[in-house]
Amino acid sequence: MGEKRILVVGAGSMGSALARMLAEGRVPGVVPAGVVDIDGTRALELANATGSRAFGEIGTAVRETRPDAAYVATPDALHREPVEQIVGMGVPVLVEKPLATTVEDAEAMAEAVRRAGVHAEVNWLLRWNPAFVETKRAIDAGELGDVRLFNGRLNHPVSSPRERLHWSGGTTPAWFSMSHLLDLALWMARKRAQGVYALGGRGELAGHGIETYDWVHAVVRYADGADGMFEACWILPDSWPTASDLGLRVVGTRGAAEIDGAHQGVALAADRFRLVAPVHWFPQRLAAFLRAAEGLGPPAAGFDDGAEVTRLLVALHRSLESGQVERVR
Ligand SMILES: NC(=O)c1ccc[n+]([C@@H]2O[C@H](COP(=O)([O-])OP(=O)(O)OC[C@H]3O[C@@H](n4cnc5c(N)ncnc54)[C@H](O)[C@@H]3O)[C@@H](O)[C@H]2O)c1
Repeated sequence: MGEKRILVVGAGSMGSALARMLAEGRVPGVVPAGVVDIDGTRALELANATGSRAFGEIGTAVRETRPDAAYVATPDALHREPVEQIVGMGVPVLVEKPLATTVEDAEAMAEAVRRAGVHAEVNWLLRWNPAFVETKRAIDAGELGDVRLFNGRLNHPVSSPRERLHWSGGTTPAWFSMSHLLDLALWMARKRAQGVYALGGRGELAGHGIETYDWVHAVVRYADGADGMFEACWILPDSWPTASDLGLRVVGTRGAAEIDGAHQGVALAADRFRLVAPVHWFPQRLAAFLRAAEGLGPPAAGFDDGAEVTRLLVALHRSLESGQVERVR
């Protein structure tokens, strides 16, 4: 099998993480083909740091680099245009979560992929976290019986929305963080969300000019009598020992699983105290996408699931505004 070349679209945190991971040889046989960003300085800096070429526009980048696949890591609401352009040129695409922030965009993207007949997946990274992989294996093996209840949280220290994510005022903790939990529930139990009730609070981030929710709570009613309670909070203190506070409980008719996302292996006391995972799953995730794009493995996170999570999140945000239970479809 020859070397695979990936075009990186969006040279921010995630684009940079992927391009650097490839430049460091962490996915054997896969290298960056080029970097595209509307911010020319960012594209150039990342291209120089990873030994590839910088571009300001996708069409030119695809024509000149002829990549095997593209990775799109633009902000949440800006995935549709790059994805449609890339699949329209016949290139398989891995796009960051959430697939889209409107149902119209999500369905149009799923349709564009079907029309183009190319392989496309959403980068729901937690589907490759070994703790969630093992939980899904236990569910699929029937060890938990019929899943009836989820209780999950994905929270971040306040410096994340205040300092690292510079478009945090244009999204919410639900779109950015809770979306992962809603995808995990869909992936693990394959139950469709019917309705959602959500509450959220504002004030702390708004006081720093960031017009979004400080936290969001949601209760989701799934088909077959299952439900889930989910939390996403963006105002944890910066003294928190992990970059995120992640946990999920799954209860079924015959068993239960508890995933503690904080304690994944190593307590590192160096310049500061940190709890870190010894294994990172982004390389495996990318390798699985490339295998599936070649028809050598099953598609693991397709656009139809991505659109399903978007439908739930759109209803969830309607509920935040209306104060009522909102139907998902
Ligand atoms: N899977 C995960 O675990 C995970 C974690 C963090 C973020 N994300 C997702 O990754 C995506 C990117 O987040 P980020 O933190 O890297 O954002 P970021 O702001 O750091 O980077 C986004 C980059 O995209 C560029 N950009 C915007 N529009 C563009 C366009 N049309 N063409 C090319 N470049 C364009 C911006 O100039 C910027 O450099 C988001 O959807 C986010 O939710 C996923």
